[in-house]
Formats: sequence, C-alpha cells, structure tokens
Amino acid sequence: MILAIEDLTVSHGEKKIVDKVSLTIDKGEWFALVGQSGSGKTMLSQAIGQLLGTNLRASGRIMYQGDNVLEYPKEKMNQLRGKAISYIFQDYHGSFTPFLTIQQHMEEYLQTHGVHQKTQRKEMMKEAMESVGLEASFAKRYSFQLSGGQLQRASIALALLLEPDILIADEATTALDSVSAHRILSLLQDLQQKKGCAILFITHDWRHVVRYSDKIAVMKDGKIIETGTKQKLVHQPEHAYTKQLIQAAPTLPMRIREVSKS
Ligand SMILES: Nc1ncnc2c1ncn2[C@@H]1O[C@H](COP(=O)(O)OP(=O)(O)O)[C@@H](O)[C@H]1O
Ligand SMILES: [Mg+2]
Repeated sequence: MILAIEDLTVSHGEKKIVDKVSLTIDKGEWFALVGQSGSGKTMLSQAIGQLLGTNLRASGRIMYQGDNVLEYPKEKMNQLRGKAISYIFQDYHGSFTPFLTIQQHMEEYLQTHGVHQKTQRKEMMKEAMESVGLEASFAKRYSFQLSGGQLQRASIALALLLEPDILIADEATTALDSVSAHRILSLLQDLQQKKGCAILFITHDWRHVVRYSDKIAVMKDGKIIETGTKQKLVHQPEHAYTKQLIQAAPTLPMRIREVSKS
C-alpha cells in the first residue's frame, strides 16, 4: 500500500465537504475516483497535498510511509510534493508562465527539490521529456511555442520529473477531444506500468473508468458510497447510486449498462 486515507474530513465552517472518507491506494495501481460534479473529489485530492484554501480545514489521517502527511509542516510538505505526490490538472497552461522556457521551469523545480548537479538535472529532464514522447529540444521552447497537446505532455513531464509514487490527475483530460484524451491516458498507463507509479484518476467519465482503472471509488455528497475492483464495480454494482451513474453514462456499451440494472 502506498497511501491510506483514514476518516478524512474537509470542512468549510460547519459544512462537511468531504465526510469521513477512507480509502487505500496500492503501489502502481490505477485508482479511479468518480462522482458527480460537486461531490468533493477535488477537495479530497487537494487535501492529500495540503493544497486546500485557508478557509477549509482537513482532519483525519493521510498515511504515507508511516506518517500522517496532514501533520507535516509546510517545508516538509513542499519537499514531499513532486517527489512522492504529484499533480496534473485540467488547466495545464497554469503550470507554466510565459516568461520561462520549459527547461527553465524544470531547472527551477529540480533545484528547489535539491538536485544541485547540472548534469544530473539535464539527465532527469531528458528522461522526463522522452517518457512523454517529446524530444528533449522542445524544452528550449516557451509554453506558447508548443501546441496544446505538446504543452499538456510537457506538464506531465514536469509532474514526473522526480518520479513520484502517486500521480493525481484531476479531470486532466476533460477538456480534450476523445482522441487526445485517449492519447494522454495511454501515456499515463504506460508510465504506470513502466515506472510503477500509482494514479489517482479523478473523472466523471465512465468510459475512461472502464477502460483504464484497476480499482474504483464512487463519491456522493462528500462520502465514498461504494468501492471495489473494476470488475466488481462495473459488472456487479451494489449501491443504487452506482447503478444509476453507470446507466446514465450514454457512451458505455449497452452490455455494461444492462448488467447494472439487475
Ligand atoms: N474553496 C472552497 N471553499 C468552500 N467551498 C468549496 C471550495 N471549493 C469547493 N467548495 C465546495 O465543495 C464542494 C465539493 O467541491 P469539489 O471538490 O470541487 O467537487 P468535485 O471536484 O467533485 O466537482 C462543492 O459544494 C463546492 O462548492
Ligand atoms: Mg473537481
């Protein structure tokens, strides 16, 4: 097991946005978190990296290598982010400023994480760029000199630089057309298999859930209402809400939607 979330609650004043959530993610596993918009998926994922806004409070435990990361001081958390837990977002443009080249972003990132040797940084950058299918020379460009697809790959390369144990992808492909989305997801699957990093995949798109995940958790109103292997959850869902979600996914094969009715 690489991450264990125990009784995680995220509150906004009296309101519980995430309500006593427990789940475990195994090493190298593709873990899909699904649920309607507003169910608390993003807040849960941001609590893992201590990225929540100051108006929100997280309690419970997020165990990583024997420690509760919710208790980490800021500096220690900054070190953990990127190395242990990394994020890719829907808005990948936000990962880059137009004033620095991709390489300068990567250099800065590696230096803040204590990689002081230039040759080592260069090697790590080259490997990260190649692992997302970009030639290393692309790193010399500014973000606006890359196409949308290339820039998203570069943002994934940035997230992968330190070979994190867990990559959190929050609706990372939602804004893409289906061909580009599958290209990115196949790339993530490839990285999952080759590098053994776990993926916490947040989406509301069941097509992607069915195609890529190992394990699935369904979230509703801040709670996990059902969790299990893909086989179990897609073909023998127990909870009425899970069945409803599967039936409402118009792009799933009829075969799967029929099963969920029984
Ligand atoms: N910074 C915030 N402050 C207060 N409430 C928030 C904040 N961000 C999100 N919320 C609320 O928390 C709930 C869950 O949001 P979110 O985790 O973004 O849902 P999801 O990612 O599943 O669509 C929503 O009701 C949303 O309005
Ligand atoms: Mg969200």
